[in-house]
Amino acid sequence: MTDKNRVLIFDTTLRDGEQSPGATMSHDEKLEIAALLDEMGVDIIEAGFPIASEGDFAAVSEIAGLAKSATICGLARANFKDIDRCWDAVKHAKSPRIHTFIGTSPQHRAIPNLTMDEMADRIHETVTHARNLCDNVQWSPMDATRTEWDYLCRVVEIAIKAGATTINIPDTVGYTAPRESADLIRRLIAEVPGADEVVFATHCHNDLGMATANALAAVEGGARQIECTINGLGERAGNTALEEVVMAMRVRNDIMPFTTGIDTTKIMHISRRVSTVSGFNVQPNKAIVGKNAFAHESGIHQDGMLKSSDTFEIMRPEDVGLAGTSLPLGKHSGRAALRAKLKDLGFDMVDNQLNDLFVRFKALADRKKEVFDDDLIALVTDAAAADQADHLELKFLRVICGTEAPQSADLTLRVGSEDKQVTATGDGPVDAAFNAVKALYPTEARLQVYQVHAVTEGTDAQATVSVRLEEDGRIATGQSADTDTVVASVKAYVNALNRLKVRREKLGSDVKEVSYKDVG
Ligand code: KIV
Ligand code: ZN
Repeated sequence: MTDKNRVLIFDTTLRDGEQSPGATMSHDEKLEIAALLDEMGVDIIEAGFPIASEGDFAAVSEIAGLAKSATICGLARANFKDIDRCWDAVKHAKSPRIHTFIGTSPQHRAIPNLTMDEMADRIHETVTHARNLCDNVQWSPMDATRTEWDYLCRVVEIAIKAGATTINIPDTVGYTAPRESADLIRRLIAEVPGADEVVFATHCHNDLGMATANALAAVEGGARQIECTINGLGERAGNTALEEVVMAMRVRNDIMPFTTGIDTTKIMHISRRVSTVSGFNVQPNKAIVGKNAFAHESGIHQDGMLKSSDTFEIMRPEDVGLAGTSLPLGKHSGRAALRAKLKDLGFDMVDNQLNDLFVRFKALADRKKEVFDDDLIALVTDAAAADQADHLELKFLRVICGTEAPQSADLTLRVGSEDKQVTATGDGPVDAAFNAVKALYPTEARLQVYQVHAVTEGTDAQATVSVRLEEDGRIATGQSADTDTVVASVKAYVNALNRLKVRREKLGSDVKEVSYKDVG
């Protein structure tokens, strides 16, 4: 690497990210994410842990064969069997890498019950073995930040002498803090013989919420590879988020003059795909990729944003792949925001049309927490639409539940102008009730999210249920509240189905999402 300020981006969404409980991805999903990472300019993709399963091996191996420009890396513990298996999986890559690791802290040395000297020997043997197979070897002392620094210097020197080309310093339990993170890398670079011949990497977990800050501090200290995941996916509190470090270095290049090869306009798309395939929703207020990261609802903020975007934004939505700022409409929104939103949706209003619509919009916003694009489209395209009955309406529901399975639901649903009735069973009352809806109104829509929140305390609490459905790339959400959780669930589900129908009919088949549009 000639540019001393170029920082390599090592993405481990498919390895460390996939290790998060519940985040398993299918083979095809892994291939898709790997292709997106490659396309966005990630330098090294850690594609999996080949010895962990046949499935992991197959995914790493196929990704290795398909990658166009990224280096493909596999993980291996400190033994020959793991390392050989890893090499078998990555060796087809244009640029393969073996990543081998061992826990060096007192807490981790205790597990294989190795003395410091025995562990040093193991590191020498395994890194030498890896290097005999592959000329690109990364070595990690797991839990480095809780390892005695003198011992860390000693084992890093051994790994370099054995042929490691990248030394990764993991903060495995998210224990370090920015100043210490920088100091540790600085000390290793200053004291370890041969340090100037290798790249130092940082791999931070987010247990104290400092992963991104610690990674950037390590770069200040001399690290030139950041290990990260999309959306910060990863075990426990996750990892450094790729989008955060990359955008931080870009937005604050004045104080962090580092560059990466990442095409940031691909960020939003890959974030959404990772969220969908991993089943891990991105929290709305998540930096860079959260739904609210470029959203301004209050009248003052919306007004400021419409005059000049730098009043409340430090980066442009386009930089991360959004078509523009989102101004979600609610009862605090003003006429200017309504006009801008309508324009965004393709409706240019003359003043008196807008005045009329604004009155109806305010009436609707008073009844609803957030006015969605669908609601606006309905308001504009059909003056009566706001008051018009939905296609589906819950008329009657009775569930039988308890310790004896199967649970069942008697449901009457109005579908168009006809009342339809069915009894269905399921695994629990909500499943039975949803099965009844599906029996009366068959659809291809896939349930992506089902969440229940208690609004008040006590056994008579109102439950708010949110349902998100996906059909052919189109997303629709439904919400409802009721003291009966099953009733709230069915209403939310029916609500989402009604929205999906509106989207299908009003937006046509090619427009999938209207509030966030991908660029390019
Ligand atoms: O967090 C960690 O220490 C790891 C290693 C395997 C690098 O993920
Ligand atoms: Zn990790």
